[in-house]
Amino acid sequence: MTPDDLMFKPGAMAGQRILITGGGTGLGKAMAEALLMLGADIYICGRRGGVLKAAAAELMGAHGGKVAPIACDIRVPEAIHDMCDQIWADGGALTGLINNAAGNFISRTEDLSPRAFDAIANIVFRGSFFVTLDCGKRWIAEGKSAAVLSILTTWVWNGGPFTVPSAMSKAGLNVMTQSLAVEWAPKGIRFNAIAPGPFYTEGMTARLNPGADQSSYGDMKANPMGRAGDLRELANMAVWLMHPFSTYVNGQTIAIDGGAWNAGGGSFAALRDWDDAQWTKAREMIRGANDKDRAQRTV
Ligand code: HXC
Ligand code: NAP
Repeated sequence: MTPDDLMFKPGAMAGQRILITGGGTGLGKAMAEALLMLGADIYICGRRGGVLKAAAAELMGAHGGKVAPIACDIRVPEAIHDMCDQIWADGGALTGLINNAAGNFISRTEDLSPRAFDAIANIVFRGSFFVTLDCGKRWIAEGKSAAVLSILTTWVWNGGPFTVPSAMSKAGLNVMTQSLAVEWAPKGIRFNAIAPGPFYTEGMTARLNPGADQSSYGDMKANPMGRAGDLRELANMAVWLMHPFSTYVNGQTIAIDGGAWNAGGGSFAALRDWDDAQWTKAREMIRGANDKDRAQRTV
């Protein structure tokens, strides 16, 4: 990313200290890059220490600043606690947390074992909550304000067939966002969420569109904008929601999906592919039916 890819002025996030779970890859890395470029100190965590270190070195090499990689499995509350101890000892409280880490794969639900369900729910549902809880306890004890942003999916509104453990877990985080936005607002801690549509990432493609390359995520014809998201669009949205000027935005889950989930909700979304001739023909046929009915009216 270059400064031209960002809608914010240089230094807009100076003084911010933000942990991004799963920040070494994909969406998390893109958000880390944008926040870093705007002056925030960034902490990224994940289970693959080498991937994190490489991402941190790449981002600092390109933009300077601070990206601290911490190997941490967010399924393990004690590991989260150690990570937070390390961060707090490194310069004080975080000002923000982005719950981005996730696991997912497509599967017929009847093929799932309990371990398969847990493999996803323990990362997304439990892990994200445990990170939020550990940070929240510290913020409350210290009287610090903070912003929490969770990366969900639009499935929280209309379900996720063949990705049921993910959809269920993300829906839980959606309710966490709504609940804690109210419970912890008086303590200065606010909660929002982003519900992205498809964005090409290696991790997502491997599990949701296995065998495809990263530029062919399914059939984008179903998307009203006919394309997947651009990581810069997502990153700018995340910066806005983490910025102090969005402090009055609280308890919101905002989709960034080209309008896709709204399109799925209507009965006639596919009609946007009709050409003029099809609309003219349909209008003539409807008019014919109307004329026939009108001719039979007795009042
Ligand atoms: C059925 C499966 C399976 C599959 C694994 N399992 N893959 N079951 N279909 N495709 C089962 C295994 O058989 C096992 O159960 C259990 O799940 C645990 O498997 P492990 O491989 O031991 O799990 P683990 O090493 O903990 O890895 C977790 C993971 C993996 C979730 C399975 O995919 C992962 O690490 N993912 C992290 C990154 C990721 O998923 N990124 C994508 C995010 S994209 P048994 O009973 O056999 O022992 C995303 C997009 C959303 O979320 C929205 C898009 C629009
Ligand atoms: P990704 O690159 O696979 O990102 C997932 C990240 O989570 C990885 O860095 C992974 O690192 C980390 N992670 C997984 N389990 C972890 C654990 N137990 N502890 C710590 N970190 C863990 O995929 P992505 O596409 O960027 O997805 C990022 C987020 O966006 C996810 O929440 C996903 O659900 C959401 N999302 C993505 C899309 C999309 O189209 N890409 C759409 C909607 C929502 P390790 O494997 O090293 O632990």
